[in-house]
Parts: sequence; C-alpha cells; structure tokens
Amino acid sequence: MGSPQDGAYLLLSQHASGFMVSQVLFAACELGVFDLLAETPGPLDAAAIAEGLGTSFQGTERLLEACVPLQLLDVDTRGGRAVYRNSGLASAFLTRRGPRSQRHMLLYLGRTTYHCWAHLAEAVRQGGNQYPRAFGVAAGDLWAAIYRSPGERRQFTRGLQEVWSVEGRAVLTAFDLSAFPRICDLGGDFFQDPLPEADLYILARVLHDWAEDKCSQLLARVHQACRPGGGVLVVESLLDEDRRGPLTTLLFSLNMLVQAEGQERTPSQYRRLLAAAGFPRFRFQKTGGTYDAVLAGK
Ligand SMILES: C[S@@+](CC[C@H](N)C(=O)[O-])C[C@H]1O[C@@H](n2cnc3c(N)ncnc32)[C@H](O)[C@@H]1O
Repeated sequence: MGSPQDGAYLLLSQHASGFMVSQVLFAACELGVFDLLAETPGPLDAAAIAEGLGTSFQGTERLLEACVPLQLLDVDTRGGRAVYRNSGLASAFLTRRGPRSQRHMLLYLGRTTYHCWAHLAEAVRQGGNQYPRAFGVAAGDLWAAIYRSPGERRQFTRGLQEVWSVEGRAVLTAFDLSAFPRICDLGGDFFQDPLPEADLYILARVLHDWAEDKCSQLLARVHQACRPGGGVLVVESLLDEDRRGPLTTLLFSLNMLVQAEGQERTPSQYRRLLAAAGFPRFRFQKTGGTYDAVLAGK
C-alpha cells in the first residue's frame, strides 16, 4: 500500500499541482510583481507590494510566499517581517525591461494557451484545436483564430520573438550558412502570397503548425521559388526517433493539438517531408536547447 512518503505518491502530487505552479508564475507576471521589484531600489514587504500593485494584502502575501520555493523571489527577514526581491531567474527572464524577458510569452500562455489546455480531454477525444470551446471562435481558419484581435496578435508575436533572445544563437549557428547569399525568413501568409527568390528559406516553428498535406503544399511552393543549390532551414523542437522524449517536445506536440493543426515530429518525419518536396540532402542538429535545426538542400 502507498504511504505519503512513497516516491510514486510524491510524483503524483507534483503532477497534480503542476497547473498551480504555472498559475503562480502567470499571475505574478500579470500583476507586475517582478516589474515592481525591479523598479524599486531595495526589497519590499508584502504590504508595500500589495499597495504598489493595488492588490489585496491576503492574496499578495500568499502569492509572494509561493514564489519563494519556486525560486521566482528571494526572501529575507527584516524587523520581523518578510521582505522580497527578484531572484536571479526573475531578473533574467521575468521583468518587462530585461533583454531576455519572456514576459509576453508567459502572459500569452496564461491568457490563451492555458484556456485551450483546459479542454485537452476533448481535444484528444475528437481531435482538433480548442479555440471554439475556449474562446467561442471558429477553428476552421486557424490563423483567424490565433490572430483574433490586434491585441492578441501583438501578444503572440512579441511572445514568439522573446524565445529567440535566448535560443536564437544556437539554432542559427547549428550549421554554416555562409554558402547561402540570400536568406528569407518565411512568415505571413505564405500559402497565398508570392514567395521571394532566395538561396535559403528559414521555416521556424511553421511546419509544426500544419498537417502533412499543408506542409507538403508549402514546401512545394518553397521549392519552386528556391534558387538552384539552395535549401531550407527548419527550426523546430525535434522528437526523439523512438518518440519517448524530450518531455517538453511531447508537451509541445499536445499543444499543437489544442492550439493548431499540426504536431511535433522526429528527424525521420522531417526527412521524408523534405525529400518528397525535392529537398533530399538532409542533416539535423540537436542544439541542447528547446529548438533544433534541420538543413535540407535541393
Ligand atoms: C508560430 S509562428 C512562427 C513565427 C516565427 N517564425 C518564429 O519562430 O517566431 C507561425 C507563422 O506562420 C504564419 N502563418 C502561417 N499561415 C498563416 C496564415 N494562413 N495566415 C497568417 N499567418 C500565417 C504566421 O504569420 C507566423 O509568422
């Protein structure tokens, strides 16, 4: 019989409360805890933070206390009271002005992604993204749902950019790209608009949005526009060939189920897609970060 000290029971408890951890992080970003502390010279107690944020004392105090073991805040005792300052993690990634801030992505995860994940069981039961259930918007036109208001579009695109301040160097230096004089980073409505001629096309977090037929359609367009000797740099989070990990990528693949039309893929899956589209010279590089690089030549 299991006891509270059981490793399995502790793991279960951690899994079950994982969403609470995410919400502490999202709420602290949303309320501006890290920005207030970054803009104040010394540490602050819960009353001063509640006053600065315009929040309740009892809620603020509990949120701050939970942030400490999560290593989002550091705490000291002064005159018998707990005083808080940003942890190293918060100073690096959670303040508005930090050069490696991930704040917009965290706000996006809390305001949008989290609500789609609330319907994960339904997404698994039926297939298909959960924009209709979470936000009452039609799922048929994916990008109309994702960009459903100017504010939503801004939040999403700023969030997307933030990750490259941390992971951009690793994916762009995974291969020597000096043989490609003209490089085009594809975005916008690349299923409709004419594609510019280039030697290398970057498809970063694009193919994972789409099912195979759409990926093939897009890669065929890229192949047609691509100069002789050119290629494609695919930047995605790669699944292991045996599909047992990495956990983050397996979770991202579920995220593609609840928020998009695609999935995360193994190197072999990308190899097949790219070869069928006329890019048979295939290499991939794991970066050790969340995102990896695939280079495929004509
Ligand atoms: C997940 S974002 C990735 C953006 C960027 N490459 C990055 O990694 O940060 C996917 C891209 O697909 C574009 N996109 C694809 N299909 C689209 C469509 N039908 N309408 C509008 N945008 C579309 C979006 O504009 C966006 O640039």
